[in-house]
Amino acid sequence: MVFSPSPVAATTPVDVPPQNEQATLLASVHRPRRLRRTGALRRMVRETVLTVADLIYPMFVMEGIEQRQEVPSMPGCFRYSLDALLDELQVVTGLGIGAIALFPLIPDAQKDNAGTESYNPQGLIPQAVCAIKQVFPDLLVITDIALDPYSSMGHDGIVENGEILNDETVAVLVKQALAHAEAGADMVAPSDMMDGRIGAIRQALDAEGWVNVGILAYSAKYASAYYGPFRDALESAPKFGDKKNYQMDPANSDEALKEVDLDIAEGADIVMVKPALAYLDVIRCIKQHTNLPIAAYNVSGEYAMVKAAAALGWIDEQAIVLETLTSIKRAGADVILTYFAKDVARVLGGGKDEA
Ligand code: PBG
Repeated sequence: MVFSPSPVAATTPVDVPPQNEQATLLASVHRPRRLRRTGALRRMVRETVLTVADLIYPMFVMEGIEQRQEVPSMPGCFRYSLDALLDELQVVTGLGIGAIALFPLIPDAQKDNAGTESYNPQGLIPQAVCAIKQVFPDLLVITDIALDPYSSMGHDGIVENGEILNDETVAVLVKQALAHAEAGADMVAPSDMMDGRIGAIRQALDAEGWVNVGILAYSAKYASAYYGPFRDALESAPKFGDKKNYQMDPANSDEALKEVDLDIAEGADIVMVKPALAYLDVIRCIKQHTNLPIAAYNVSGEYAMVKAAAALGWIDEQAIVLETLTSIKRAGADVILTYFAKDVARVLGGGKDEA
C-alpha cells in the first residue's frame, strides 16, 4: 500500500511554526508600510482629500463704513461693514473660496423680543446680499435664519414667560427667509432648531416662486459651549438661561437621526451637524443614514482653541488645521463651514477651474 499523506496531516500542529516565526512570516507578506514609503504612494492611496471646493467661509457683517473689527476671541476673524466686506471678498474669492455664510451684528437699538428687524427687507443682511451678488454673482451666498442676532433676549425664538415659543417663531423665520431670498440669497440656513421650520420655509419659498433657493438645515445642532466666541462676535449671548430646550443634548445621537429625517422630509437640501469635532460620530451615523450632502460646522470655539494654543507656540497651527478638517471630511462631511477657510485655501490652492 502506497503511503499518501492526507492534507489534514500536513497541517498537524507539528508543521505549524512557533508563534514568533509565524509573526515574521506574516509580516513578510503583509507590510502595510509599503504603501506609506513615499509621498507619491501615500498620495495615490489617500482615502480623503480636502479641497477648497468643500469649504464655506462664515463672515460677520456690521453697519457703518470702513469698519473692520477683529473679534477678540477669534483672532483673524473680523466684523466688516459692507464696503469693507466687499473688499475682503476680493481676497476670499481670489483664493478660490466659492461660498460664504453671512451673520449680522445688529445694534441693540434694533433688537426686540420678536426679532422684527430680522425680516426688514432693507435690513443689513438683505442689503449685504444684494450688494455682494452685484459684484460677485458666482459666489454662493448662504444666509443665517434665526432670531438670536436680532433678539433683545439673545434667544433663537420669541420669549414668553421664560419659554421659547415655537410656532410663533417659525412664522418670523419664514418672513426672514423670504426677505433673504428676495435679496438674492442662494441658500438659507435655519440655525434655530425650532420644530417644523424647514417645512414652513420650503412651502413659503415655493409659494413665492423661490423654488431654486436651497435650504441648508442645521439639523443636528447641539446645545454647545463651543459657540462662546461666536456670541462675542455678534453680541448675541442669551440674556437668561441657556438654549437646552431647543438645541440638542450633547449626549444624544439617535435623536440626530430623528432630526435629520424630519428635515429631509420637510425639504432640506443639505443637512448639518454642529459643532463638528466633538460630534464626528454623529456625522458618520448620518452619512450612513442618508444620501443627502452633509455639512459640518467647525465652530468658533474649535477655531479659538487652535488659535490660542498656536499663539502660545504649543502646536503647529497649519498642520493641526489640515488634520482636523480632514478628519471632519473623513467622518463623512461633504461640506465644511470653517473660519480657517482662507488659511486652508492658501495652503491647498483654489480650485476655481474645477467648476
Ligand atoms: C445661532 C447660531 C450660533 C452659531 C451659529 N448660529 C450660536 C448659538 O446657537 O448660540 C454658532 C457658530 C459658531 O460658534 O461658530 N443661531
